[in-house]
Amino acid sequence: MLRQILKVIKLLGLKRAARMKRHHAEGLVYVRGYAATCCWWALLRCGLLDELAKGAVAVKEFVGRKGLDLKTLESMVEYLDGIGLLVRRGGQVEITKQGRVLIAEPRGMFELLWAYEPCFTNLGGMLDGSKKYGRDFTRDVTWVGIGSASLCEQLPYPVMRRMVRDHEAKMVLDLGCGDMGLIAGLCREDGEVRAHGIDVSEAMIEFCRGKLKNEDYGGRLTVECCDMFEIEGALDTPMPVDCITACDTFHEYLQEPDRIVEVLRKLREVFPEAILVIGEFCLQDADWLRKHPTASLEHHLFHQLSNQEITSAGCWREIFGQAGLTIVEEQVYDLIGHGYFALR
Ligand SMILES: C[S@@+](CC[C@H](N)C(=O)[O-])C[C@H]1O[C@@H](n2cnc3c(N)ncnc32)[C@H](O)[C@@H]1O
Repeated sequence: MLRQILKVIKLLGLKRAARMKRHHAEGLVYVRGYAATCCWWALLRCGLLDELAKGAVAVKEFVGRKGLDLKTLESMVEYLDGIGLLVRRGGQVEITKQGRVLIAEPRGMFELLWAYEPCFTNLGGMLDGSKKYGRDFTRDVTWVGIGSASLCEQLPYPVMRRMVRDHEAKMVLDLGCGDMGLIAGLCREDGEVRAHGIDVSEAMIEFCRGKLKNEDYGGRLTVECCDMFEIEGALDTPMPVDCITACDTFHEYLQEPDRIVEVLRKLREVFPEAILVIGEFCLQDADWLRKHPTASLEHHLFHQLSNQEITSAGCWREIFGQAGLTIVEEQVYDLIGHGYFALR
C-alpha cells in the first residue's frame, strides 16, 4: 500500500495528491449522506431498524418473514457495515453505537425528509416547469405526522403539554393531530384526560386507527377525519372541550391568513370556554441562521418546495389579535424557530 501511495505522489506531486484526497473527502460527505439516507429510509420503513434496536437480527429469517429481496438487503447491510452504522456477524446483523444515535433524536429528521422526498425526486421537473407540487406529486402526509411527532416529542410537546396541564384541561381537541403524538402523551401522563384528534387526511386517520388498536387509553383517545375549517357541527363526537391544541397545523394556510383568523374566531364561538394551546414555526433571523446552519435550513427548504410559508412570532401575534384572542402565555424559542402560545 505504501509503495502505491509513493507512486501516486511521484506521479502527481505531494501537494496535488494531498489536495485531491482532501477534496474527495469533502465531496463524499454529501454523496455518502444521500446513499446512506436512502438505505436508512428503506430499513426504517421495513421495520429492520426497530428490530435492531432490540437486538441482533438474522438476515435470512427477517427477509423470509417480511417477504423482501435478500440480495438488496445484503447490499445495504454491507454498505452500512462499511460506513459504521451496522455490523455483520455471520448471518446476523447488529446496529452500532453510531447507528443507534441515528434512530434516537435524529430519527424524526429522517422520517420528515422521507415525507418530503417526492419534492427532491421531482426537483428537476419543478425547475424546468414540467412538474408542479400539488398537481403532479405531494408530500407523504402520514410520514409528515410521524416525523413531526418524533421531533416534537423532544421540546414542543413537553412545553405544550405543560401549558395544557397548567390550565387543568381534561377534554382536549387537537387540530391536525398527525400521528396523535401530542394527545397520546397527554392521555399517558394523566389518567383523567380525554382527547380527540382531527385531521383532514384520511390516510393519517387510518394510520392513527391502526395505532389505536394497540393502545387507546381505555377509550380516552379517539380520532376523526375532519377539516378544521368545517369544525362546526362536523364532529361525530360532541364533547365539552376545555382545551384546543394545534401543533404546526395553522402555518399550512399562511398564504391565506384571513382563513386562519376566521377559523380561530369560529373555534372561539363554538368552544367559548376552551383555552387554545398553539405551537407554530416562527421565522428565524436569516443572519443568525447563516452563522448557525441548523436543521431549520432543510426545514425551510421542505416548506418552500411544497408551497408552505413560515412567518415570524410577531405575525402570529397579529393573527391571534385579529381573531380576538388574548395571549395568556408565550414562549418563543428562536434557537429552533418554534413558538408556543396559550390563548383565550
Ligand atoms: C405538520 S403536520 C403536524 C401534525 C401534528 N400536529 C404534530 O404535532 O406532529 C400538520 C397536520 O395538519 C393536518 N391538517 C392540515 N390541514 C388541516 C385541516 N384543514 N383540518 C385538519 N387537519 C389539517 C395535516 O393533514 C397534517 O397531519
